Amino acid sequence: MLINRIFNGNDAVYGLTVNAVDEAVKEHGADKPVGFPHTAYCLPCYYAVTGVKVKTLGELKEALGVVKTLMTRNHELDDALMSGVATALCAEFIEALKYLDGAEPYSEPCYGHLADSIIRELGVPLVTGDIPGVAVILGSAPTAQEGVDLIKSYQKQGILVTLVGGIIDQATELGLKMGYNVRIVPLGKDVTSVIHVVSVAIRAALIFGNVTPGDAGALLTYTKDRVPAFVNAFKPIDDVILAAGAGAIKLGFPVISNEDENIVEVPGALIACPDVADFNKVSLEARGIKIKITDIDIPVAFASAFEGEIIRRKDMQVEFDGSRVDCAELVQTKNMDEVEDHKITVVGPEVDTFEEGSKHSLAYVVEVAGKKMQPDFEPVIERKFHNYINCIEGVYHTGQRDMFRIRISKDAFNAGFRAKHFGEVLYAQVKNEFEAVVDKCAVTIYTDPAECTRIRHEVAIPTFDRRDERLDTLTDESVDVYYSCILCQAFSPSHVCVVTPERLGLCGAVSWLDAKATHELDPNGPCQVITKERPIDENLGSYEDVDEAVQKFSQGALEHVTLYSIMQDPMTSCGCFECICGIEPFSNGVVIANREYAGMTPLGMTFPEMASMTGGGVQTPGFMGHGKHFISSKKFMKAEGGIERIVWMPKELKDTVAERLNKTAQELYGIENFTDMIGDETVATDPEALVEFLTEKGHPALSMEPMM
Ligand code: SF4
Ligand code: NI
Ligand code: NI
Repeated sequence: MLINRIFNGNDAVYGLTVNAVDEAVKEHGADKPVGFPHTAYCLPCYYAVTGVKVKTLGELKEALGVVKTLMTRNHELDDALMSGVATALCAEFIEALKYLDGAEPYSEPCYGHLADSIIRELGVPLVTGDIPGVAVILGSAPTAQEGVDLIKSYQKQGILVTLVGGIIDQATELGLKMGYNVRIVPLGKDVTSVIHVVSVAIRAALIFGNVTPGDAGALLTYTKDRVPAFVNAFKPIDDVILAAGAGAIKLGFPVISNEDENIVEVPGALIACPDVADFNKVSLEARGIKIKITDIDIPVAFASAFEGEIIRRKDMQVEFDGSRVDCAELVQTKNMDEVEDHKITVVGPEVDTFEEGSKHSLAYVVEVAGKKMQPDFEPVIERKFHNYINCIEGVYHTGQRDMFRIRISKDAFNAGFRAKHFGEVLYAQVKNEFEAVVDKCAVTIYTDPAECTRIRHEVAIPTFDRRDERLDTLTDESVDVYYSCILCQAFSPSHVCVVTPERLGLCGAVSWLDAKATHELDPNGPCQVITKERPIDENLGSYEDVDEAVQKFSQGALEHVTLYSIMQDPMTSCGCFECICGIEPFSNGVVIANREYAGMTPLGMTFPEMASMTGGGVQTPGFMGHGKHFISSKKFMKAEGGIERIVWMPKELKDTVAERLNKTAQELYGIENFTDMIGDETVATDPEALVEFLTEKGHPALSMEPMM
């Protein structure tokens, strides 16, 4: 019965797809290009399953023949599930047709196809458990309120929620704030738009997992074991939805539904759950997702899903702005007897007394004490404040140190949120995440302007200056050990980052100090000490110790890794890198693109295309993923001549790194304003124009030795 319904649904979708493709071929011709924007994988699901890149309507038509071979009709569960996969591929074809001619078929609030860069960005939060899972909600809830309650229940847990069909209108009707930044992503109203989240799961396997396109077995194992997704499908479930659900089940994603007619449960895979209020619990259990509970005594929600929330001027109650008035955030190490644990003090007026829409000073000092606390961990803890404060619903934080800005929304204020609650949040989170080094913690919040001025100028700035001096003297030569990081192995099983003072992890989130603190917090965790007692080649940055470590931590997948070369045994990439750098043969240089950049580069490739050249923990000489901060490092491609090789970067990235990069160029080569010599998209996006520009500027790369 169930199996027949899946076959029926699959046949129906297949028929529709054949018609749609035939129509399109008739209208546009077989040579018409087809594909999704901002991806290096053409039709990603079809490519991953078969290993074939479909690029034209004619090839799409051929691909339909291949899909047909998956549609076997033996009355077995696995035949039914494979028909589910075939249904998913048909959905991908139908959706691809919507994008013909560069069309933008989706508009607010719907997203449709999601770019490769979004998947790369998801890498770190998924491995750290910051995003513990991905929910796919499909159809219309019994009532709009039940639907929105379900969405919010996931959002509060940090789960990324994608919406398909009627639920989108229900959420809009109740005024739910949606968007990728608050982890609620409406995909589209047609059921076929569900493929856009399937495509994310499948591309994760290609990007992080080093799964060979066409190796359907490895692909399905990857999504089942490593992508924590599940489906909530509201009744009525027709044959088409059932067939799509079968595809989800084959990928390892359980389907939970309130349907009570004509449905047979498949244990662990297709689960009946009559009450929508129980969907959350049943889904997490079925997918084995554990939620970190953060119980903080504040009147609004606290969840990582609110991290990207933006508070506009018209919605804000008060603002604290370090660029206009004195503000500061600071961690101070104290002796055990100097700190009274969980003491929270507000010095100055509470925000009740501030006029609506007004701007004020704010300083908060977090005192920590613990036997294993080291002053080196102060900046590591402090840098997390941005994240902690942002996770408060209705509160927004940007910047750091004495240059931050915080807004409290009217909604949060009306719910009772006050300055003292910053103390509760900072206390709870610091104790939570740093319990191995922080035994006692107290927070003082200053709203008194004179006190803020004193804290900023007499306490905070001298501390920041001292720390910066320490960072300046932290070089690869000045330390005794490096650290490994294997956090990304959850997605990229053989990837190892070697983190040194002058080369942070490629995700940009793990500096040498972070790695050191992580090691201290969890001695058996992802960051392990790597000694550097047996150098092989100082210029390449190769060490016997490093080789041994990467061999061990990659379970033998890697043998040699150098720290400073892009050509010889370069460091691997997992896929979540902030930037990718690749050789530009005409100028003897390298081009760097960052994840945010959507345009073309002089390599004739976009960021996603460059990024697809490396990843999954394999070494690809000539391409290297790295953090933004690494661009101004004296160790950047040192073996090939260093930062002098950089010939092109997107303008925005160039502006971000300019100050530090220029300083390095000045120190290393005596070049003034080096970034003026580097091309960007406003100058050139093809190699000829770039070389012309570089020649005019006298860029040093042109006269350097060829890299290949
Ligand atoms: Fe992943 Fe490397 Fe960042 Fe660690 S340092 S989280 S392994 S990218
Ligand atoms: Ni917020
Ligand atoms: Ni990663």
